[in-house]
Amino acid sequence: MNIVILAAGQGKRMKSQVPKVLHPLAGTPMLLRVLAAAQTFKPQRLIVVVGHGSELVQAALPAGTLTAPQTEQLGTGHAVAQALHLIDPAQATLVLYGDVPCIRTADLEALVAAAGNGIAVLTAIPADPSGYGRMVLNDAGCITGILEHKDCTPAQQAALREINTGVMLLPAHKASEWLHALRPNNAQGEYYLTDCVQLANAQGMAVQRVLAAQAWTTEGVNSRSQLAALERLHQLDVAQALMAGGTHLADPARIDVRGHLRCDSDVSIDVGCVFEGVVSIASGASIGAYCVLKDCTIASGAQILPFTHIDGATVGSGCKVGPYARLRPGTVLAENCHIGNFVELKNTQMAAASKANHLAYVGDTTVGTRVNIGAGVITCNYDGANKFRTVIEDDAFVGSDVQLIAPVTVGAGATIGAGTTLTKNAPAGQLTVSRAKQISLENWVRPVKVKPST
Ligand code: UD1
Ligand code: MG
Repeated sequence: MNIVILAAGQGKRMKSQVPKVLHPLAGTPMLLRVLAAAQTFKPQRLIVVVGHGSELVQAALPAGTLTAPQTEQLGTGHAVAQALHLIDPAQATLVLYGDVPCIRTADLEALVAAAGNGIAVLTAIPADPSGYGRMVLNDAGCITGILEHKDCTPAQQAALREINTGVMLLPAHKASEWLHALRPNNAQGEYYLTDCVQLANAQGMAVQRVLAAQAWTTEGVNSRSQLAALERLHQLDVAQALMAGGTHLADPARIDVRGHLRCDSDVSIDVGCVFEGVVSIASGASIGAYCVLKDCTIASGAQILPFTHIDGATVGSGCKVGPYARLRPGTVLAENCHIGNFVELKNTQMAAASKANHLAYVGDTTVGTRVNIGAGVITCNYDGANKFRTVIEDDAFVGSDVQLIAPVTVGAGATIGAGTTLTKNAPAGQLTVSRAKQISLENWVRPVKVKPST
């Protein structure tokens, strides 16, 4: 089939320089969510109708996406007509809206099935139908007309609760004929796509309807307030699915998944966490309050303590990370490592049971097993132009406040005394320390304040 996505509207009520369809829901622009749903159908032709902010919209679309410009927004029917020259006339056309980001592919599949070779409309029964076009049905349950809210009498507005989601399937042999026959004789002076329903009826063709499984998934976004409300509905839906899969959520109303989160059973997630990109958490792992996890893998039984930030890292089983830790891209922790408060790791691979418990920066480093990295340790991996690696071998003990000037190697079992600035490799098994000798001055007298002479 063909799929046409309408995305030409301005979205005045967003009060934004950014076109409405590019505002994100759960981290992804609304239009790209609709596009992803459309692509599951592998349509012959997929066309996005663009108008307001068309340059920005086009730039946000994947390269090669077909677009049709609509320079004047003369209505939904006019918008679809702009794409007519790009569609395959031998195929049915599914019309989607770029500002209905939570549309479900299961509902679309049902719509395609119900339409057969004819026309079908996706409907919903929302709690508040105001603003929407209303379904007029015959005894057989087929649609005989769609009355826009503004074109309804108050009695019709109150009585007709089933609404038009805007999603419609047009049959191949009629799309062009009907779209050319639309006339703008209505309250808004627009070419209404919905008038195809009357045209079908006039030609003796029944208009099928499919009721969306969940009304909220068909909600369109016109304002930031509606976008925020829909975001919460979407997040609650994600939370329910996680819980149904065996994840413990401290509060399903306080989690934000802006990507894909996969949890094995008995993962526990405290309040206020944000998940971005692709995150995978194995069984028994726990995520403390207010963590931000992006593109990372957390192995079984790991504990991520509150306020930890993880991006592009892998955390081994039984590790303890945080509170207030930061793992940056390329970091890999093997089993049972401990990373404590205000420790930053970047592109660092740490073997099992090693620790950096307080206030450290470890970057571009290979750390062996059972290594202890003391408080205040810093790898000086950057000379202002180049980055160099540090190697800390098994069982080494790096004392507090040590600077490791890379490239440098700390040998197996070596001890680096506190305060050392390590510029040369430290031999295995020995104590290496660079520190001014401590002296005490027996006859030293503390200065006293000099009185100004009067
Ligand atoms: C439309 C439907 C209404 C339905 C509602 C669902 C018509 C006549 N009415 O009304 O029955 O209940 O959607 O949300 O179809 N667009 C364009 N070009 C245009 C006009 C609109 O691209 O010239 C796009 C908009 O950007 C938007 C979508 O089409 O994504 C719907 O347009 P909108 O103006 O919001 O239609 P409604 O009046 O809400
Ligand atoms: Mg609308």
